[in-house]
Amino acid sequence: MFYITTAIDYTNGAPHIGHAYEKVLADVLARWHRMCGEPTYLLTGVDQHGQKVQQKAEAADIPPLQYAQEVTHKFTALWERLGISYDGWAATTDPRHEACVQKILTMLRDKGCLYKKVYKGFYSVRQEQFLTDKERLEDGTFGEEWGQVIELEEENWYFNLTAHTAWLKEYVTTHPEVVTPEFRRQDLLMAIERATHDLCITRPKKRLAWGIPLPFDPDFVTYVWFDALINYISFAGYLAEEGSDLPDFTKLWPAACEVIGKDILIPAHGIYWLCTLHAMGFADEQMPRLLVHGWLNIKGKKMSKSLGNIVDPNDLCDFFGPEALRYYLVRDTKTGYDSDYDPERLKMIYNTELANDLGNLANRSLNMCLRYCGGVVHRPAAEQDDELSAALRNSLAEAEKTFAEQMHAYNTADALAALNAHVGMCNGYIEQKQPWVLAKDPEKQAELQLVLYHLLESCVHVGYLLGCVLPEASARLLEQLQVDPAGLRPQTLAWGILTEGHTVQAPSPVFPRILSPEEKEKMAAKAAAKAARKPSAS
Ligand code: MSP
Repeated sequence: MFYITTAIDYTNGAPHIGHAYEKVLADVLARWHRMCGEPTYLLTGVDQHGQKVQQKAEAADIPPLQYAQEVTHKFTALWERLGISYDGWAATTDPRHEACVQKILTMLRDKGCLYKKVYKGFYSVRQEQFLTDKERLEDGTFGEEWGQVIELEEENWYFNLTAHTAWLKEYVTTHPEVVTPEFRRQDLLMAIERATHDLCITRPKKRLAWGIPLPFDPDFVTYVWFDALINYISFAGYLAEEGSDLPDFTKLWPAACEVIGKDILIPAHGIYWLCTLHAMGFADEQMPRLLVHGWLNIKGKKMSKSLGNIVDPNDLCDFFGPEALRYYLVRDTKTGYDSDYDPERLKMIYNTELANDLGNLANRSLNMCLRYCGGVVHRPAAEQDDELSAALRNSLAEAEKTFAEQMHAYNTADALAALNAHVGMCNGYIEQKQPWVLAKDPEKQAELQLVLYHLLESCVHVGYLLGCVLPEASARLLEQLQVDPAGLRPQTLAWGILTEGHTVQAPSPVFPRILSPEEKEKMAAKAAAKAARKPSAS
């Protein structure tokens, strides 16, 4: 089972391009594994508790649940537009999740992993956590990222995290697969050395009421991170009630891939989450694997309200279309590294790789097949391959191999680059073979059929594999090629999907060029001028 999860998004603001990147990346990987025939389950959702939601709800003068649900709708609407094919929805106010969190708290208390103590220290209101000297800057102050910092004395419940850090260090050292990419695992190993405090897992109700109540101490609610991390198991059916409609936990767990941003590896996922599971009794083989992606920035700067540079993915869907955005996000970002969101690059990559390269290839190939062969495909024998055609066939096999390897290694950008390189090879092949010249010579019919076969077969393979990134465009392309993807699998994709006598449909553009408003205006003016030059019908 390929159980893949994403971080659950805070419901204290609208979704932005960073949230969209993570969900598209996870969706592409989930679709890829489904294509490979692996049972796959994609879980995503929203993190609805915490101080910020409480504060925003107070400001809006509505109950926190209502506030959280209103924001939640913005996320679900966006995921629908972007075609995020999630199987499970993790909303932390779901009673099934709350019940699971409470059971886990009780279990940990009974195991002696929780204790109560009074702590006096500095507290970040923004990050909802106590700060230690490690967080201080050289001048003794706390950095901007902590927002307002106040002094607080408070009694709370603690999780004995430090009892598990020796195990964690050993585990992360000996299991390189736990964090991808490797350099993030190294970061984690260094951070474990600094994890010398236990974790405060409650907030007093008098200060923060919007959280899951502690089952054994009514004056407290659960710290939002402790609650949120548990979503990966609660919505996978862990400790679910009899007859619950949640999945069978034993079939899903451990998560093969928890997709998270670099900001929440340390300490949340890399330390708190793994230690919590260990404290609960999960064995090494039951630990989830973390895939850590970088951040999408804007002109090298972090997106922020104060800079006014937050990008709303809905605007991009309106202007470029959801699939253009999906392609750009996983093509222009190297998984694990930061990248800059740049609408000019989005347009350039889409117009070059999809509108020009693949779109033209498919249009020309289908058109030529219709014009020269009545839409009928003729399958040549392998021995008929000349040097160029054999090279094209090899190029496709290589591209497919690289695509599969890179997708399994989560490197979507390199996987797509490999397909695009093959498409480029096909376009070069058309120029070299000049099918329009072959079509004029009755003696060159066999060669013409061979050339068209190589082109159309390539379109089928590429169109099919792109299905995990561009589900709609892939379906349209395959429809024009009259190929049903249901019978195909990446592992067994071999030359010869198109059989002798196969017929194709007339092409209709799958990747219309993205034009800027100025380009659109120019085109409209050109069309108007052309119409004016034509003599009127009357
Ligand atoms: N609620 C927590 C996660 C709990 S998971 C048990 C949270 N929420 S978040 O809304 O702030 O972020 C959700 C995800 O989006 C995180 O993985 C985060 O890294 C990611 N991103 C937030 N901003 C981002 C960018 N600018 N670029 C890419 N992803 C970023 O953290």
